[in-house]
Amino acid sequence: MKNKTNKGTVDTAPETAPAVSEEKKEDQPKNNSREKIAGTKGEALIIVNDLFKSFGDHKVLRGITTEIDKGEVVAIIGPSGCGKSTFLRSLNLLEVPDSGTIRFEGTDITDKSVDINKMREKMGMVFQQFNLFRNLTIKQNIMLAPTKLGKMTKEQASARADELLKRIGLSDKANAYPGSLSGGQQQRVAIIRALAMNPDVMLFDEPTSALDPEMVGEVLSLMKELADTGMTMVIVTHEMGFAREVADRVLFIIEGVIAEENTPDEFFANPVNPRLKDFLSKVL
Ligand SMILES: Nc1ncnc2c1ncn2[C@@H]1O[C@H](COP(=O)(O)OP(=O)(O)O)[C@@H](O)[C@H]1O
Ligand SMILES: [Mg+2]
Repeated sequence: MKNKTNKGTVDTAPETAPAVSEEKKEDQPKNNSREKIAGTKGEALIIVNDLFKSFGDHKVLRGITTEIDKGEVVAIIGPSGCGKSTFLRSLNLLEVPDSGTIRFEGTDITDKSVDINKMREKMGMVFQQFNLFRNLTIKQNIMLAPTKLGKMTKEQASARADELLKRIGLSDKANAYPGSLSGGQQQRVAIIRALAMNPDVMLFDEPTSALDPEMVGEVLSLMKELADTGMTMVIVTHEMGFAREVADRVLFIIEGVIAEENTPDEFFANPVNPRLKDFLSKVL
């Protein structure tokens, strides 16, 4: 189970990957002895196979293969522009890959006959910029998707919103508008808004990057709490301490491939790829 070939990674680069310059090959680990980690919890929720995506002639994803298990927390790190957001957004088809497959709960969501909106209902997404509806109250924001998509009656959605707001200590903000909340509060609301749909996985794209430093902690604590409940989470982040503490596995993406992946302890203590070593020396 743990020893699957992970052909999207650099050191076992697929033949279909674009030619890498000699110089870049030099950067890659010389041995393939490191065991590939397919998922750390045993039961796959998302299986990504050989994902490619270009924008024009810019090849952004160049063969990403990985598995995300039920209950697993996967942190994704890498330099700006390496394809982290594109990869994350591909997981719920906000970006449509050029080739490769994504199986979510057994269904290949890249198959054109799949009702992607149904699939997306099970995949919560949290963005850097919160993306709350400014003209709706906090409670209306939380109730919107479950009621609009017919998942809950108004009463059910209202009860769920109350419960979630209580959980994050923002019951008194139910009727406030997003603009009157701090960034940290807005992002916590964005997280519970996604949770209101009872998703099977939560995707986070740099959820704390737009926050003032003093508000990062409250958002990370909520995410940690969520991880502790067993939620499957895929998190693009620059918060290395958080990745180390909360993730089951950390992926390093560079130039559209997974150049290294490991359990957080190994990943941070014994990085192998020179690009990762260099990256960590700059961010740690
Ligand atoms: N919709 C798009 N159209 C054209 N280029 C894009 C688009 N989205 C992303 N890119 C480019 O793809 C590359 C990877 O972007 P992204 O996945 O956002 O990187 P990251 O999240 O790692 O910073 C960047 O060079 C970016 O400019
Ligand atoms: Mg990004």
